[in-house]
Amino acid sequence: MSSRVKVVVTGAAGQITYSLIPRLLDGKTFGNKIVDLVMVEIPQVVSKLEGVLMELEDSSFPNMGSVEYTDNFADAAKDADWFLLVGSIPRGIVYEGKKIEERSDLLRINGGIFVNQGEAIGKYGKKDAKILVVGNPANTNALIGQNASGVNSQLWMAMTMLDCNRAKSVISKKVQCSIEEVKKMIIWGNHSPTMYPDIENAIVNNSSVGSLVNDMEWVDKTFLPTVQQRGKAVIDARGASSATSAAKAALDTIIACENPTGDGDCFSAAVASDGAYGVPEGLICGYPLMTMEDGSVEIIRDISLSNFAKEKFDISIAELESEREAVKDLL
Ligand code: NAD
Ligand code: LMR
Repeated sequence: MSSRVKVVVTGAAGQITYSLIPRLLDGKTFGNKIVDLVMVEIPQVVSKLEGVLMELEDSSFPNMGSVEYTDNFADAAKDADWFLLVGSIPRGIVYEGKKIEERSDLLRINGGIFVNQGEAIGKYGKKDAKILVVGNPANTNALIGQNASGVNSQLWMAMTMLDCNRAKSVISKKVQCSIEEVKKMIIWGNHSPTMYPDIENAIVNNSSVGSLVNDMEWVDKTFLPTVQQRGKAVIDARGASSATSAAKAALDTIIACENPTGDGDCFSAAVASDGAYGVPEGLICGYPLMTMEDGSVEIIRDISLSNFAKEKFDISIAELESEREAVKDLL
């Protein structure tokens, strides 16, 4: 007999969720579990979710359980196992007469959303709920939400899997391997242009990708900026921020949390620091993670960082600290 999982998705009438929601129900992301879904939107557009619901009904998904929609997040949160917090404003748009250029420009616009949602998750979500923040600036939004929840047993994550998938794609072209062969692709720090995609610790067939590439000039001048700036490149080309790749990354994060991590691998997401790798406690920082047999998610603590890597990682940590300072009234 299959078990059930209750999943809450915010921003359910947006771009990312149009790709994401159907694939929660297809029997792959949650295995054979039946998925009870609650879609959440703001009052102005919540009625559009009637159309999304119709499409889901018309798709004959094998693992679809109950599907509801609402503009009341606290109602949605009751006994939920998973929260996918996508609902927020993307960059690349004009907001109050000003073009939003950097994800951090969204701090004051989106940050407040996560106070109320965090409180409701702490109060009504399952005690072992997992929360994936996709809305930008994802790390600091997750910090705000986790702080508001007042609960330590829930797992708050900010999404860096998209950066990980981007890095794997660049590496697979460079060293001529398949994407599946690239393992241990760690994204350290913030989901922002300061993130550090760690090519030295990434491996292909048990060899360090850094050694295989053996070209630090290419790493510094091509690899890092390509991955760090890929979100902007997509916005410039598409006129809208990444959506289908962001949805895929959210699904990959869920799959990584729902299944024990394979030997010699890890997955990427940002979680609260407990001081690991010298990161100030509480910051939501990109780390190498693994899911244990009992379903808990742990930081992998024995990765060595070169001086080059430490220098880059420190820049991202400093940025996370300055973002925390900028939202201290919300904490
Ligand atoms: P979108 O504008 O298409 O959709 C966002 C939706 O969120 C809208 O329908 C809006 O009504 C809804 N919303 C806003 N406030 C809400 C609230 N309080 N509760 C519920 N719903 C709410 O935007 P999108 O392209 O889907 O992007 C969503 C967010 O994801 C943006 O912040 C974007 O920057 C971010 N993003 C993050 C990553 C990542 O890797 N972490 C990748 C891509 C996009
Ligand atoms: C991305 O990395 O594609 C998203 O964070 C969207 C953005 O603003 O870059």
